[in-house]
Amino acid sequence: MKKRTILIDCDPGIDDAIALLMAFAAPELDVVGITSVGGNVGLEATTRNALALATLAGRRVPVARGMDLALIAETKRAESVHGTDGLGGVRLPEPSYAEEKATAWEFIRDRAADFPGELEIVAIGPLSNVAMALSAYPETRRRIKAIHLMGGSAGAGNATPAAEFNIFADPHAAAAVFQSGVPITMFGLDVTNRANLSPAGLEAIRVIGGRVIAPSCAMLDHYLTAYRHFGRDTLALHDPLVVAWLVDPSLVTLKPYFVDVETDGRYTTGKTVVDVHGILKRPPNAMVGVELDSGRFVALMTKLLRSYDEPGAVIAPGAGR
Ligand code: BDR
Ligand code: CA
Repeated sequence: MKKRTILIDCDPGIDDAIALLMAFAAPELDVVGITSVGGNVGLEATTRNALALATLAGRRVPVARGMDLALIAETKRAESVHGTDGLGGVRLPEPSYAEEKATAWEFIRDRAADFPGELEIVAIGPLSNVAMALSAYPETRRRIKAIHLMGGSAGAGNATPAAEFNIFADPHAAAAVFQSGVPITMFGLDVTNRANLSPAGLEAIRVIGGRVIAPSCAMLDHYLTAYRHFGRDTLALHDPLVVAWLVDPSLVTLKPYFVDVETDGRYTTGKTVVDVHGILKRPPNAMVGVELDSGRFVALMTKLLRSYDEPGAVIAPGAGR
């Protein structure tokens, strides 16, 4: 089986954490790097969390730190959802290795050069690092196979009435990415809000138990408490949906649309404008998720998280591979 070569740009973040743990476990994916970005919480925490999550998974995937703040926009965080440490206060193992010396954008450049035409960027935080890499190194644009991002919405937002958090956190970076010419797959709230896990579903995973399932469910408990605070009793697993789709593309129906980002609006800054009716007569620049099979999504997520405890799949924490 030819594995997909992926680099994950993330701001862990509870749903980022689950996405990383799923990606490390998937035999279909070769995670060749992680870049951290400030988003849900600050860069110091997101970098440390990425290292700790790889350590929990028994991996030594290189982690390069990137941008803490947005290119231009004011800083936004989501500590009310993810906790001040980004992982809902759940303690993970101490990182067993150090981060890279390169910046995230240098690291993206180098990995794209290592895997020309193969590297797929999985972007599940604000797009500051990806925009930096594409702007600083034009050759990197040509070498990246695709960018699969969690962000935006064709409808309502979650950070503002119009904007989704990852795009709202750095709208100028997001606009640069959508305008870059690199093939884009967009998993917006239209689908990720339906990548649901109910409280009963969470309990069903918890009873399986295991060294990765236990801390995952503890993090999701915090996430559920935050969701309940906002009046919703079901978790939306935004970032994990992108990883699930990489493993099984039949989970999500995609449609080609022209997408751009509003960088300066009275109410709409950070909104992804998705031209679903083709009114602008612009060629599509993104494949946009419009439907998903949420039952199969939860089953796949569960399978990947429990695989850490299956005979033959267990890797001692810190052993690396
Ligand atoms: C996105 O925002 C963050 O809070 C999550 O990690 C996810 O990437 C959802 O809007
Ligand atoms: Ca995220």
